Amino acid sequence: MEACAYFQYLGSLPFWLFALTAVGFFSLSKISFKSLWWVYISFLRPGKNLKKYGSWAVITGSTDGIGKAFAFQFARIGLNLVLVGRNPEKLQQTAEAVKAKYGKTQIETVIIDLAGDLDGGLVRLREKIEGLDVGILVNSAGVSYPYAKFFHEVDQELQKTIIKVNVEAVTKIIQAVLPGMLKRKRGAIVNIGSGAAIVIPSDPLYAIYAATKAYVDQLSRCLYVEYQKSGIDVQCQVPLYVATKMASIRKSSFLVPSADAYAKAALRWIGHDVRCTPYWPHSLLWCFVSLLPESLVDNWRLNFCLNIRKKGMQKEAARKKE
Ligand SMILES: NC(=O)c1ccc[n+]([C@@H]2O[C@H](COP(=O)([O-])OP(=O)(O)OC[C@H]3O[C@@H](n4cnc5c(N)ncnc54)[C@H](OP(=O)(O)O)[C@@H]3O)[C@@H](O)[C@H]2O)c1
Repeated sequence: MEACAYFQYLGSLPFWLFALTAVGFFSLSKISFKSLWWVYISFLRPGKNLKKYGSWAVITGSTDGIGKAFAFQFARIGLNLVLVGRNPEKLQQTAEAVKAKYGKTQIETVIIDLAGDLDGGLVRLREKIEGLDVGILVNSAGVSYPYAKFFHEVDQELQKTIIKVNVEAVTKIIQAVLPGMLKRKRGAIVNIGSGAAIVIPSDPLYAIYAATKAYVDQLSRCLYVEYQKSGIDVQCQVPLYVATKMASIRKSSFLVPSADAYAKAALRWIGHDVRCTPYWPHSLLWCFVSLLPESLVDNWRLNFCLNIRKKGMQKEAARKKE
């Protein structure tokens, strides 16, 4: 009876008020559903069994920051590692540190300067992974500006390096690892993008870096669609600030995780969404930013980066004086 009276009441409302109530109801339902879904994927959804993709993981940028943290996390769950890096000593140190903590892990290393002789390095990588059951590839190696710079201030060498490491190398490393995954009909490819290209509407004074990360995002999305039916999960992870050498942030905090905290969160997302930001405070920030007018965020970011540029130039001038 009560429901009947309710519908009669709705029927007696003027049309505009009825339409407004309906829109309000659907908007509220959508927000509630999205919030519950966020709680589920951030805290409750179990991670995939990553060993099902294969027993080896290939990691670029494995000698520092996020890539190195991935190496420890993969070893923790029993995966063997192919560590890719440009510096033989750092590669050796990383391999030894992982071995010291997770003695059973088998580790292979491949020296590739992704900004240098990439094709020669790719030959070595292909030889190394021949016959290995490589299930996961993490493209973590990346290069940014030493500090914020206007587009016309970026020298040719830096521009070439950023594009080669962030675009060409990511593309070619995938091309080297993918055929084996296709043969085995399983695999996960994780490309580390950046909030600079996806979360904020622009990253002024880091234009080339942000543009290369937009490439990584779109490449991942297209490959996800192309290879999903072949058993290969392609994903672009979108971190905001992580306390690493690249970010020039030493101390972690609630909004800036350590590389280890990031990688721990990241493992739970592999194989799930095509684009994700695994560290949950980052996804809250993303949501907050998306609610603001783009021009406001653009302006805030420009001022923020101008400040970084000023400090960077001062440091550079002091270094030159020494
Ligand atoms: N940290 C952040 O706040 C943040 C935010 C968003 C996205 N990201 C992305 O996350 C990824 C990892 O960054 P990170 O913060 O871990 O940076 P990082 O601490 O500077 O580590 C970068 C890694 O890439 C390697 N690398 C750089 N140039 C190379 C080259 N020419 N050849 C081979 N390896 C090279 C470095 O090797 P060496 O050890 O030899 O230097 C290092 O292992 C990057 O793709 C970055 O764009 C980072």
